[in-house]
Amino acid sequence: MCGIAGYVGGQQALGVVLDGLRRLEYRGYDSAGVAVLANSRLLLAKKAGKLSNLEKMLAEAAEADLRAGTTGIGHTRWATHGGPTDRNAHPHLSADGRIAVIHNGIIENFAKLRAELQAEGIEFASDTDTECVAHLLAAELAGIAGSPQALADAMRRVCGRLEGAFTLLAVDAQAPGAVVGARRNSPLVVGRGNGENFLASDVSAFIEHTREAVELGQDQIVLITADAIEITDFFGNPAEGRDYHVDWDARAAEKDGHAWFMLKEIAEQPQAVADTLRGRIGETGEIMLDEVRLTDQDLRDVDKVFIVSCGTSYHAGLVAKYAIEHWTRIPCEVELASEFRYRDPVLDRSTLVVVISQSGETMDTLMALRHAKEQKARVLAICNTNGSTIPRESDAVLYTHGGPEIAVASTKAFLTQLAACFLVGLHLAQVRGVKYADEVAAVVAQLQEMPAKIEKVLAGMDPVRELGRELADNKASTVLFIGRHVGYPVALEGALKLKELAYMHAEGFAAGELKHGPIALIAGPAGDRQQSGGPADDESGNPVGHGTPVICIVPSPAGRGLLHDKIVSNIQEVRARGAHTIVIAEEGDDAVIPYADVLVRVPRTPTLLAPFVTTVPLQVLAAAIADARGHDVDQPRNLAKSVTVE
Ligand code: F6R
Repeated sequence: MCGIAGYVGGQQALGVVLDGLRRLEYRGYDSAGVAVLANSRLLLAKKAGKLSNLEKMLAEAAEADLRAGTTGIGHTRWATHGGPTDRNAHPHLSADGRIAVIHNGIIENFAKLRAELQAEGIEFASDTDTECVAHLLAAELAGIAGSPQALADAMRRVCGRLEGAFTLLAVDAQAPGAVVGARRNSPLVVGRGNGENFLASDVSAFIEHTREAVELGQDQIVLITADAIEITDFFGNPAEGRDYHVDWDARAAEKDGHAWFMLKEIAEQPQAVADTLRGRIGETGEIMLDEVRLTDQDLRDVDKVFIVSCGTSYHAGLVAKYAIEHWTRIPCEVELASEFRYRDPVLDRSTLVVVISQSGETMDTLMALRHAKEQKARVLAICNTNGSTIPRESDAVLYTHGGPEIAVASTKAFLTQLAACFLVGLHLAQVRGVKYADEVAAVVAQLQEMPAKIEKVLAGMDPVRELGRELADNKASTVLFIGRHVGYPVALEGALKLKELAYMHAEGFAAGELKHGPIALIAGPAGDRQQSGGPADDESGNPVGHGTPVICIVPSPAGRGLLHDKIVSNIQEVRARGAHTIVIAEEGDDAVIPYADVLVRVPRTPTLLAPFVTTVPLQVLAAAIADARGHDVDQPRNLAKSVTVE
């Protein structure tokens, strides 16, 4: 939430910072702003709405000095305190105009600080919590000659007074050539350049300039100048960051010919899943997770697994539960991170808590992980983002290596999380000896077929895109998704994608639950209902033959025949009530043909692994509907990619 970029070097700072913000805009797009230091002046430009509004404003009326400066900071906002207006856009200035500050996070004691500052006669120019920091820094620097060190000292003292989560960047008009950053509970990485240095919420902001990054720790202050990076703790003690090399380049953060990042990321899924598996499977099909810093004995001691995550990552956890319990015979619970620590779960040393997070920054998940660690549980993170907080604070980490995911709606993150969870499940089964080597190898062989199968699904998506265009005009009050077993979390994920992208009401259900209530939501087309004496009001307003759309995820008839037969009955039940059935079933499954108004085929896949193929059409469908409705597919309203508030 909120993207932050800072630059010091020999280039024009405005251009570097705006390019960075373009790559960070997924983190929030309520407003954007920049501050540049030029000719001993601090120049600001900010505008509500997307970055393009700011760029337009700058193109029309940018001061020449704004282009001259080589030190700058920039911000793209997801509003927390104060509405998404020009006045609340960052950067915020101190009353004397000397200091500019940008911020990601929430300063929880801001009301108290604001009251204190107002009592001292400071007038606030915005409704944000951030502005306090600009005034506090100015107060610390009052009467002190500006210098990079003085700014860093002031930041340390101010951070000592702040509560909550924050990444802050500040510049001082009297200290050209320096940007100071502070980090607590929100992300901040340093880009190490040659005669230039960068600060950003994530590496994508500076990837076209350098792939050498430094991960900062919790409660650290960083001072960058063109030639130096100095890191300390909040008390001024020298501290070390962790240097790392980013293994993807600027092209990976471009759309590469696709209309939307989301479409590119959907298309990348075969490669992304292959990358998650790469190097983790031995020649004889054994799982090799030496990178996971948990000993075999630690894993043998595990008597309970909790998977804790949010949103799409939570759905990946729900799928993983079926696999982990089936393979390891260890009880596995899946929890929403936002609920986990508030209900006092039973945890101890023999509990393995698996936290799943694409961004590695989700505050709910981070707080759940800290709670688990306080209770002495061991925490394993499954994460896509090197250098982020969640893997850093976990006992062990398995990176998904999916490459940058820029569209706000998660797609490749989900499939790579599934692959990583399955590796963990198989590894546990292998270490604990509950599965023979050949059994593990057989599942591994099936897993390795997934990239090719996903590729095949992607090749047949034209009819789904066409269906998306048709459904875009659908007036139904709801779209239902039903599934059983691992198809149930897939149904939840399909409904989430539709809600967030198409802004349509959608719900996912375990198909067996329909008869316990939700089936009442199904409305047939007007003509049918009148004939059958059903309700006369045509709630949907759809043409005859198009009742409530119900998307049915059908398991393979091969592995679990009973499961398959049950859902075929459920499809008949909804269709008998006038639903428009869109059925996702594997090739050769003829039993569904009579009940499918629309049939989407996926390759034959063992039941547990079916989400790799059945999720893809749901992603494509949601994106197609959103696109046809004229929505911004990559940046749906009200959302942000990285949710760093609780
Ligand atoms: C939905 C989506 C979100 C995220 C959730 C967790 O498309 O992207 O539901 O899955 O906010 O984010 P991470 O995985 O970064 O912790």
